[in-house]
Amino acid sequence: MRDVVVDPAAHNREAWDKYVQEGNEWSTPVSAEDVGRARTGDWSIVLIGREPVDRSWLPADLTGRDVLCLASGGGQQGPILAAAGARVTVFDNSPRQLGQDRMVAARDGLELRTVLGDMRDLSAFGDAAFDVVFHPVSNVFVPDLAAVWRECFRVLRPGGILLSGFLNPDVYLFDHEALDERGELVVVHKLPYSDVTHYSAEERAAKFGADAPLEYSHSLTDQIGGQLAAGFALTGFTEAPHQSNASAPYMSHYFATLAVKPG
Ligand SMILES: C[S@@+](CC[C@H](N)C(=O)[O-])C[C@H]1O[C@@H](n2cnc3c(N)ncnc32)[C@H](O)[C@@H]1O
Repeated sequence: MRDVVVDPAAHNREAWDKYVQEGNEWSTPVSAEDVGRARTGDWSIVLIGREPVDRSWLPADLTGRDVLCLASGGGQQGPILAAAGARVTVFDNSPRQLGQDRMVAARDGLELRTVLGDMRDLSAFGDAAFDVVFHPVSNVFVPDLAAVWRECFRVLRPGGILLSGFLNPDVYLFDHEALDERGELVVVHKLPYSDVTHYSAEERAAKFGADAPLEYSHSLTDQIGGQLAAGFALTGFTEAPHQSNASAPYMSHYFATLAVKPG
């Protein structure tokens, strides 16, 4: 055990704010053309990897549906769903990620609400406030998931749906330098992995950079079992490769689930 006394939300807020300034892929807003097409019904959004999410996972008509884009800032999914007719709230821990959504909304005349906070605490929202929670790959940035699933269940209406993307925990078995520099799969970490339990602050700074976000692997019990324990029924599952990682030919990096709050 290393320096586990670290505040992941505070650290990752700064890390993601910095990613925005650096032009991270997941902080790059959609274009005005994308928004214009979405207004005509021609749209797609990403849940895992780079492929569009299966449209059958979302309501055919989003008009007037209350959608929570959870830990989904960056000016990506929220503006597209708003242009498609949904009443969108984007919730994220990074002020700059939310700023990207507000920028697109102002640029393209979209109505969209942004709320700053930690995905483990959705007390900003009442019970049964949403029809859809769209949660792209982001729970890797929090150490514990039970509260996330519990809160998603609470804020959804009966019959409401939760679309979640998350990382295959096996990704964290491997030595990141050997992968990035030599494309070699060298097993170095025991699971569950986290940057804070496996490395000291000095080691993290040397390996990943002092500003890198803190990441936590989560077991499939915590991901899938956690949703079931919160009361959801799982109705969809898919997986996708990483877009560029050297381990991509060997395994799926991403999993996605569709879950329903029983009506
Ligand atoms: C990979 S990005 C996901 C958003 C992106 N639009 C996408 O499609 O993947 C991860 C997001 O999780 C957010 N995040 C990290 N920790 C969080 C937390 N504790 N609560 C809420 N959001 C968090 C980051 O600020 C970032 O916007």
